[in-house]
Amino acid sequence: MALRMDRFVIQGGRPLRGTIRVSGSKNAALPMMAASLVASGPLRLRQVPDLADVRTLAALLQTLGIGSRRDSGNLAMECVDNRPCRADYDLVRRMRASICVLGPLLAKRRKAIVSLPGGCNIGHRPIDLHLKGLRALGAEIQIENGYVIASASRLTGASIHLGGDQGSTVTGTCNVMTAACLARGTSVIDAAACEPEVVDLGHLLIAMGARIEGLCTPRLVIDGVEELAGADHTVIPDRIEAATLMIAAAITGGDVTIENVRAPQMVDVLETLSQIGVSLDWKPNQCRVSVNGPLRPITCTATPYPGFPTDVQAQLTALLCLVPGQSVVTDKVFPSRFMHVSELLRMGADIRREGDSAVIEGVSALSGAHVMASDLRASAALVLAGLAARNETNIHRIYHLDRGYEQLELKLQSLGASVNRIPDEL
Ligand code: EPZ
Repeated sequence: MALRMDRFVIQGGRPLRGTIRVSGSKNAALPMMAASLVASGPLRLRQVPDLADVRTLAALLQTLGIGSRRDSGNLAMECVDNRPCRADYDLVRRMRASICVLGPLLAKRRKAIVSLPGGCNIGHRPIDLHLKGLRALGAEIQIENGYVIASASRLTGASIHLGGDQGSTVTGTCNVMTAACLARGTSVIDAAACEPEVVDLGHLLIAMGARIEGLCTPRLVIDGVEELAGADHTVIPDRIEAATLMIAAAITGGDVTIENVRAPQMVDVLETLSQIGVSLDWKPNQCRVSVNGPLRPITCTATPYPGFPTDVQAQLTALLCLVPGQSVVTDKVFPSRFMHVSELLRMGADIRREGDSAVIEGVSALSGAHVMASDLRASAALVLAGLAARNETNIHRIYHLDRGYEQLELKLQSLGASVNRIPDEL
């Protein structure tokens, strides 16, 4: 799988108009795919986005004996060899979410050798809480030569506290919850992440025969079962993509109806956009987003769910660059997730960093420039800025975007944006 070094060329200043459908959630689909390792029968996941991260995890799972077949939006997965236990650096280094195979491998195959995921552009991303939770379930774990080497005869239910300095852990909760489903006895997980993606994984596990209580709350009570069956499950819509498209409508002063959105999973984003002055008009599972008056600056802090998502922090920052007055955006989940700031400055934004915050003075216009995508959501922020900027913006290294947004340029083009993918000269 070669990295695609394409760039986007955007001619900004066109208000987006029309209707667009949100894809299935990447961050819900990934741990569910890893749950194929604990299923004793076929797993059918519906509404799985066709993304680089999904393909990377399917390739990793293939090395672990899981066959998968995509037909349109669905992914059919089944175990064909339950012996492999090793997730190699070569695939794991491409995507941190590969760590989601650790808990399932350990619970089902009693052994897991998984490369440590390594560094990342959005900040320090340890996995100590994953390991703490799995150790509490009885796993023996060592770190050797860059690998997590874990083994257990059979996991045993335990009381586990999964909170860290930055709050709960999303993929850590997925790992420990999935493992606890096959442990002997009852597990209580406190400070569990409540993100809708964790809850959706819980619903899949329940459909497979798991006994989990307390989903949507920070306390999960799990009675282990002997075996988990296959299941057929539809992945929730991607709330981060939905938020990104909403901001695309707002930043261009457009009028866009976004389909396949679940308002209850986006309350803080919707409140924040309303506070800024963006008009949101709801019908079941769809939202019309428009701007009918002046926008107002705000103060916003990204925190674990149900707070404002860190995965929308960069996109919100891009919007606030064009809102008159001073806004402050703080990220308590990844306090140094501000790689987009220096690129937005190149487009004429007025932002200064203060610790875990960005202080934004709204400017009247952004101007097109050559900018570099540094991670998935920073790239999305640059696309949004480019859509609103005067003249042409070139966003390099958009392979980051391809990891997490399904056909973003086609979706934006269908709304009237001028976004073109050009193979990069690099
Ligand atoms: C998930 O990452 C998401 N990834 C991220 O989405 C998202 O930004 C993040 O949750 C927060 O919502 C997937 O779901 C695949 P965490 P995850 O463990 O699970 C600290 C995107 O753009 N921490 O919840 O890796 C950590 O450093 C991505 O789609 C520990 O201290 O994040 C961070 O400050 C990027 N020890 C905080 O907790 C641990 O063992 C939250 O991290 C684990 C985490």
